[in-house]
Amino acid sequence: MAGDKIVLSGMRATGKIHLGNYFGAVKNWVDLQDRYDCYYFIADWHALTTDYSNTSDIVDNALEMLADWLASGLDVEKSVVFLQSMVPEHAELHLLLSMITPLGWLERVPTYKEQIRELNNRDLSTYGFLGYPVLQTADIVLYRADLVPVGEDQASHLELSREITRRFNSQYGHVFPEPQAFFTPTPRVPGLDGRKMSKSYDNTIDLADSPDEIRRKCKTMFTDPTRLRRTDAGHPDACNLYDFHRLVSPQEVQDQVARQCRLAQIGCVDDKKLLADRLIEFLEPIRRRREELIQDKGQLLEILRAGSERARSRATETMRQVRSAMALDYSRGWGSV
Ligand code: TRP
Repeated sequence: MAGDKIVLSGMRATGKIHLGNYFGAVKNWVDLQDRYDCYYFIADWHALTTDYSNTSDIVDNALEMLADWLASGLDVEKSVVFLQSMVPEHAELHLLLSMITPLGWLERVPTYKEQIRELNNRDLSTYGFLGYPVLQTADIVLYRADLVPVGEDQASHLELSREITRRFNSQYGHVFPEPQAFFTPTPRVPGLDGRKMSKSYDNTIDLADSPDEIRRKCKTMFTDPTRLRRTDAGHPDACNLYDFHRLVSPQEVQDQVARQCRLAQIGCVDDKKLLADRLIEFLEPIRRRREELIQDKGQLLEILRAGSERARSRATETMRQVRSAMALDYSRGWGSV
C-alpha cells in the first residue's frame, strides 16, 4: 500500500492455480504490493460467461483460488483482495458501459473469435459471452485503476477497455483514467506436454500438488525431442525441463544440469528426478500454507467479505461520479434538479 497509482487485476474463478498462473501473474502481483495501491479480485461472474450451465463449483473454486493467492504471499494488509460478485457495482457499471459499446468492437476481439472457433463443447452464443470484455472494463474502471498487470493474452481486452473508457469520457465528461496494460516480464511456463500450461490442456503442476504427484507428473514431462538415446548430447535450451529449472533451481544447479546434459553425462530420467526435487522444495512452503488455509473455508469467506467491503467503498464513490456525469443522479432531490 504505497504510491498513488492504482493497480488492479483479476482472475477467473477456476479453482486451484498452477505454476503458469503463479509465475505469469500472482508472483508479479505480490511484488507490486509494496509499490502501489493494489486491488486483486476473483472474477466469479466471468466464470459464468463460458460455464453458465454448471455453477455448482464456482464458490468452492473461488475459495481454493484465494487459498493459493494468500499462500503465495498476497497480503490482505497490503492489498485489497475481493470477490467480484460481492461488489454489485460491477454489474451496474457493466450495464451502463454496455449501452455505449458498439457491437462491432466486441465482435472483432480476437479472443472472442478464437474461443467461438475452439471451444466447441460450450454454448458461447450468449449475450454475456460477447460482453465479457465490457464486464472486464467495468472491473477495471470501477476502481479508477491506472495499471492492469496482465499477460500478453489480455492485450486485446485491455485495448478495448481503453476504447470504451475514452468513449465514456468523451460522451459524459472525464471520470476514468485510461487504464494501461502492465506487461511484466513473464517467463515461459510450459505444461508437462510442452504446450502452454493450462487447465484446459490438463498439463499443469498445481501449487497444491503433493510431492508424490509432482514426482509422478515430472516423469511424464516431454523433453528435448532430438535427444533419442541416453548417449546423445542434449539441448537444454530446447527442453521443457530446463525451462522449469530456470524457474525453480538455483543458478549452480541450472549450470550443472546444462553442462552435464550437453555432455550426455546425465539422462532425461535423472534430470526429471532432479527437477522434481527442486519443484517439491520450491512448492513445499506454499503447499503447507495453502493446506492450512483451506481447512477453514469460513475464514476464507470472511477474508473475501472484509476485502470486498473495502473495495466497495471505492466502487461506491466511482458510481456516484458516474451517475452524476451521466445526469442520472436522483439523490439530489427534486428542488435542486
Ligand atoms: N480476463 C482475465 C483473464 O482471463 C480475467 C479478468 C477479469 C481480469 N476481469 C479483469 C483481468 C480485470 C484484469 C482486469 O485472465
